[in-house]
Amino acid sequence: MRPIPVLLDCDPGIDDALAIAYLVAEQRAGRIDLAGLVCTAGNVGIDDTVRNALSWLDLAGCPPVPVAAGAAGALVVPHVFTPETHGPRGAGHADLTTTTRSLDPRDGARLWVDAARAHPGELVAVVTGPSSTLAHALELEPALPRLLRRLVVMGGTFRGHPGNTTPVSEWNVDVDPEAADRVCLAWEAARADDPTVAPARWCGLNLTERAVWTPERSRRLVEAAQGSTLSRHLADALRFYFEFHESVGEGYLAQVHDPLVAWLALHPEAALTEPVHLRIECAGEHTRGMTVEDGRGHRGRPANAELVVDLSVPGGAVAVLEEVTVSIADLR
Ligand code: BDR
Ligand code: CA
Repeated sequence: MRPIPVLLDCDPGIDDALAIAYLVAEQRAGRIDLAGLVCTAGNVGIDDTVRNALSWLDLAGCPPVPVAAGAAGALVVPHVFTPETHGPRGAGHADLTTTTRSLDPRDGARLWVDAARAHPGELVAVVTGPSSTLAHALELEPALPRLLRRLVVMGGTFRGHPGNTTPVSEWNVDVDPEAADRVCLAWEAARADDPTVAPARWCGLNLTERAVWTPERSRRLVEAAQGSTLSRHLADALRFYFEFHESVGEGYLAQVHDPLVAWLALHPEAALTEPVHLRIECAGEHTRGMTVEDGRGHRGRPANAELVVDLSVPGGAVAVLEEVTVSIADLR
């Protein structure tokens, strides 16, 4: 089987780092071809997301892949950073070495478009940060939804599950709701023109908060990886994430949304989905950043999204994290 071309748009970020390491492991195993990594300002500023992405790729021993800097902030509002969640530089307690890897000269939005055009109908795109760069890419190439095989987004919260940023909003969407809404509109337009375009897959907190990483899992990762530098740095980063989650009352553990979503992007059959028409609330005083799903076809709008509502995997998200752990440990 030919490796699947994959593009990751991320904002590393501690759980993004797990997603990066997992995808490098899949690349090493010959199952995917990492067509590029786009860094978007999110958890930390653009310079730190770029630095972190390059360093994590180094530590994972990734062969050269294009890495490009995307949007340095949200489309229309000042960007909000989250050093309390991911550490002052986005890698928790991990002290990332300076990388020798060089940055692709292209803008992240251009890399999105180039990668999609290079693999028409084949590219699997995964977004684990704000949608800001993707929104720019859609301006450059409005046909992007048709060029992709699949878009999988970590964003939003559905089915009444509480937000992690406001009562109704998830962080990746909350930080740039206008960008996320442009993604919804682009998929709506593309599917109105051509119903064979795959709806964008959205994985919200109602699903991803099940991906709980524990100190015991970190210990086993380091042990299985025989103390590899990558595993030790990931464990250091995750220690900060445990402290953050404990500080907000979740316990000494970490919800690692992004590796679950990266795994799901490569295992579409493991997702139980429901088609909906999705828009993002950009105006509400109390509801800005809310993901508003319409599964009843109000106003006659076609489904532009599929919500991942459950996993069909025995053992659920914990079993997925087990697989991710084993893959990353193999990178030693
Ligand atoms: C999302 O926000 C970020 O802090 C995480 O990396 C994840 O992508 C969860 O709301
Ligand atoms: Ca992220």
